[in-house]
Amino acid sequence: MSKITNCLINKDTSCFPVWFMRQAGRYLPEFRSIRSKNPDFIKLCLDSDLSSQITLQPINRFDLDAAIIFSDILMVPYGMGQDVKFIKGKGPKLSEFNLKIFEENNKKKFTEKLSPVYKAINITRKKLSKEKSLIAFIGAPWTLIVYMMGLRQDKKNLNLENLENKNFEKKIILEKLIEYLSIHIENQLEAGADVVQIFDSWAGLIPEKEMKNYCYNPNLKLVEFCKKIHLPVICFPKGINKKYKEFLEIVKPNGLNIDYDVDPMWAKENLKNVCLQGGMDPKILFEDEKKIFFEVDKYLDIFNNSPYIFNLGHGLLPETNPDVLAKVIERVNSFK
Ligand code: CP3
Repeated sequence: MSKITNCLINKDTSCFPVWFMRQAGRYLPEFRSIRSKNPDFIKLCLDSDLSSQITLQPINRFDLDAAIIFSDILMVPYGMGQDVKFIKGKGPKLSEFNLKIFEENNKKKFTEKLSPVYKAINITRKKLSKEKSLIAFIGAPWTLIVYMMGLRQDKKNLNLENLENKNFEKKIILEKLIEYLSIHIENQLEAGADVVQIFDSWAGLIPEKEMKNYCYNPNLKLVEFCKKIHLPVICFPKGINKKYKEFLEIVKPNGLNIDYDVDPMWAKENLKNVCLQGGMDPKILFEDEKKIFFEVDKYLDIFNNSPYIFNLGHGLLPETNPDVLAKVIERVNSFK
């Protein structure tokens, strides 16, 4: 059993396993080198050999306890027939959502379209030592809807009118997404992944009265599915502040990633019977060594004697210095 699974399932407290969101990405020169030769991001995600190679880049450099497969949450809308493009400096751009195409999906076609992702997992698992986890992931339905329906206006605001106009389709879209996300989870498990993380990056922008509908219920259905197929699951409902408590009580995942707005002391006292993960602000890594170690130690001290996986409160930023990350990993690994 990997250290991470032992922490998630057995609530082991003998060590702090460590990995990072976006550990395979632009802060690594070896990633940028591959990326510069592969301008089409989706195509890169569908190149099994390169995807596996990128997944293993941080593993070859650092003493990490998990690899996370190099792919994207938007591969599911892509697999369901929506056009996805990544525009440099602007982020993802999806073609207009088409309900007819969306509803006409079938499992076989979807699985075939995403088969290079599963092949990448298979190749990676064979190259990864047994004590390391291979983490699969999906975007939660709400966060995918934000991109699929073009709800994003800017960093903090959503155009919910877009969604309200499509009110009648809401239920169908949520149900279909849960169905296909479950297929994607199971395919990744069969290919060799041993943990899954559900990213609900835009959960913090859901209106209060819709939390159940868009956040708790869809996450719960996916967590229940993971439990049914015996796959440990970590949830990350970013930006919901104190509602993390309600989320945990309803959804009950094996692991829960907190973001940088969650006070770790509050989390320790209020988020019980779960393996917590992450929390530290990725921007701390731009500070000097003294400040960084102070913050790292703060999390490790607070979560000493509870099941805790070291990670951050969001993904690594492209400006992160890999040598600084190496020191943080060393610090975590020598703590116990
Ligand atoms: O190392 C890993 O964590 C695994 C790979 C991974 C990527 N995206 C690769 C990627 C994972 C787990 C994701 C998840 C993802 N993708 C999320 C949830 C996590 C989060 O950040 O909140 C979201 C919202 C997306 C959608 C997405 N993908 C956006 C908004 C962008 C553009 C903005 C950005 O950060 O660049 C991407 C592109 C993307 N996905 C990159 C990588 C390495 C950068 C692509 C590039 O090289 O230009």
